[in-house]
Amino acid sequence: MKILVVGSGGREHAVIKKIKENPEASEIFALPGNGGMENDAECVNIAATDIEGITDFAVKNSIDYAIVTPDDPLVLGCVDALEEKGIPCFGPRKNAAVIEGSKVFSKELMKKYGIPTAKYEVFSDMEKALAYLKTAPLPAVIKADGLALGKGVIIAFTREEAEEAVVSMMRDKKFGKSGENIVIEEFLEGPEVSVLSFTDGKTVVPMISSMDHKRACDNDEGLNTGGMGTVAPNPYYTDAIAKECMDKIFLPTITAMNAEGRTFKGCLYFGLMITKDGPKVIEYNCRFGDPETQVVLPLLESDLLNIMLSVTNETLSADKVRFSDKSACCVIAASKGYPLAYEKGKLLTIDESIKENVFVAGAVKKDGKLFTNGGRVLGVTAVESTLGKAVVSAYKMMEKVSFENKYCRSDIGKKALSKTN
Ligand code: AMP
Ligand code: GLY
Repeated sequence: MKILVVGSGGREHAVIKKIKENPEASEIFALPGNGGMENDAECVNIAATDIEGITDFAVKNSIDYAIVTPDDPLVLGCVDALEEKGIPCFGPRKNAAVIEGSKVFSKELMKKYGIPTAKYEVFSDMEKALAYLKTAPLPAVIKADGLALGKGVIIAFTREEAEEAVVSMMRDKKFGKSGENIVIEEFLEGPEVSVLSFTDGKTVVPMISSMDHKRACDNDEGLNTGGMGTVAPNPYYTDAIAKECMDKIFLPTITAMNAEGRTFKGCLYFGLMITKDGPKVIEYNCRFGDPETQVVLPLLESDLLNIMLSVTNETLSADKVRFSDKSACCVIAASKGYPLAYEKGKLLTIDESIKENVFVAGAVKKDGKLFTNGGRVLGVTAVESTLGKAVVSAYKMMEKVSFENKYCRSDIGKKALSKTN
């Protein structure tokens, strides 16, 4: 089977390594992939947002199956374009990817179908937003409607910060068109849990829960990033909460999307906050999370490719998805400066002994050597019998990765461990 994977990050590397476990996956192409994946897939220099380039490549190379994982191509309709050419895909169509592509859409969906989320108001007029903020409760959470590289959410603790956020989005167009409409919502408190799920539009099967570490620095300080590390399972996600989420969030979301004529097939990511009033949705993503995937997939005991095909064929069932009872920890190594302007072009070495545990996100190969080429360079994942052991093991392996000014948080897993102990 010739398989195409759209994307270039650590998440895509984790997906590729997992589908390779199935001998049917005889040829795997990554578009564009990165230099650190070259042992696992043939990387082809076509951007993940070049929908025409991707479909042309797929047709010319008689691709049997396409896996589309990043948000931009999904929101742009990459799956629709590939399906039009007769290529079966894993990933939602454009009309379902809007669940991530528009926060206004997702908030209105939740309101209409009674799915628990933060209270909110939508604004398309800056003056009205500013007037509302004069008396709105603080802190206020201000979100750009569209995709913004994970940076379109500002938590404002003062009225000045809130006004600044609105002006930067709506007048100064910091996020371009994504900020034409904004959501201002209630600030929620509680531990966050990421739950990725497989769904074929009929059945929803949650994967093992995980916890992201979004801030750049230890103790959840510093700027928001794409994610500096993850652990799975997330100890805050108890069986009772899982059941509540299934009944009040997961199933109602699938039903709501069907009722709207926007059947979601693929991986639906629920970003949840466990508040004192129960779990609430912070965000939906129309795709696997990064770096959640790098801890979730190493714990998956079932065959990923078969699960994906069953999603595409609408034959998914819970018994197809089995997870190990072990724990995983992924630590990300970032370039100096990330998430702002960061260094590139540093010689990257990864000891042979840990290659299986490494998911490369931002590297290029030149003359047989790897060089850093991204903010997040790679993640190292350890799977062990306990979370404590996984954390120790991931940091130990990280010592075998080197590049100048390598930066890692030193407390990945600390919060989860304090809950477990
Ligand atoms: P999002 O891009 O919607 O996931 O938001 C990014 C991060 O902002 C989340 O992971 C939360 O930590 C935080 N956040 C978003 N919405 C809220 C909210 N209503 N209350 C508190 N924190 C929030
Ligand atoms: N790690 C958060 C995300 O993938 O959006």
